[in-house]
Amino acid sequence: MFNVELIGTGSCIPEKVVTNDDLAKIVDTSDEWITSRTGIKERRISTGETTTELAVGAARSALESARISAEDLDLIIVATLTPDDYLPSTACQVQKHIGADNAACFDLNAACTGFIYGLTVASQFIRTGMYKTALVIGAEELSKITDWTDRTTCVLFADGAGAAVLQRGEQQGIISEIIGSDGNKGDCLTCPALPPRNYFIRDDSTKESRSEYVYMNGREVYKFAVTVMPECILKTLEGTGISLSDIDHIIPHQANLRIIDAAAKKLNLDASKFYVNLPRFGNTSGASIPIALDEMAKANRFKKGDLIILVGFGGGLTYGAMLIKWTMGE
Ligand code: ACO
Repeated sequence: MFNVELIGTGSCIPEKVVTNDDLAKIVDTSDEWITSRTGIKERRISTGETTTELAVGAARSALESARISAEDLDLIIVATLTPDDYLPSTACQVQKHIGADNAACFDLNAACTGFIYGLTVASQFIRTGMYKTALVIGAEELSKITDWTDRTTCVLFADGAGAAVLQRGEQQGIISEIIGSDGNKGDCLTCPALPPRNYFIRDDSTKESRSEYVYMNGREVYKFAVTVMPECILKTLEGTGISLSDIDHIIPHQANLRIIDAAAKKLNLDASKFYVNLPRFGNTSGASIPIALDEMAKANRFKKGDLIILVGFGGGLTYGAMLIKWTMGE
């Protein structure tokens, strides 16, 4: 088996900042409620940027940081639940825009855990020797599936994209990963696609209009998240010889500060180990972890040899975590 290293990160976020006070003008909410229940102060919302455009921006930024050209890519995976089109996939559209003519491309949907799923899939291709270099992108425009009259969800979600480049390397950068799902709890977080509709359907009930928006049972998602986050973190350490106290940084899915604090408490860890940028970006689903990863990398928060855990949960329900050794730098 080959080693896999993370060799570059990137991100792209819309310019438009929407504050809690801005939202209080359109739904019955307040900065105080949103801040105290979620930790979110503001978020970026598309004023026309598409999921593909955000993904392309993140891809370019990651290639630049990895100092490779798009033609070096063997694989592009885009994790998204908000593609612009059923066809072509977002990954194929990214391929076209950046000129990654040698890459196999596909999208993957594991909701907010999508980026960890994408890294996991890409890592298997590199470990087995089938591919050498892969680009994994988490890109979302949640604002287009958000009901802007529903105060229980519109204060949470946001738009953005982040990316990472993985490559076969000398050192073991990706040390371990786990992914999993619990489809039995899928009803907690839903967003319908098109219902069956064709010439041969005579039963009118299938033509009834369905919601186009995200529905969330916040309490159930909360309970799931505070249980699986600590479990996932501990599972990535199993059999590695690395203990929790050796970990330098944990980058959690940025859904809710209370969930992150609860996970830290369960693990008896100082909350400062968990990187948090959700006060500025809200919940960007599959984009939240790579945006945070890129922000930390660009701010030189990692030094060579640092041990980092990425951990997420989301619709499906899905969960996952990955243990990485930072192999870049001096
Ligand atoms: N502003 C003001 N009041 C609100 C708002 C709002 N934006 N939203 C809900 N309320 C009200 C409710 O109507 C309710 O009022 P009522 O008691 O009169 O009925 C009251 O506040 C309490 O509502 P709850 O839903 O019980 O509030 P809770 O304390 O559970 O907080 C929250 C809601 C923040 C969503 C919480 O359940 C949570 O964090 N859940 C996890 C959600 C999450 O992280 N989702 C994302 C993960 S998956 C993904 O990333 C796609």
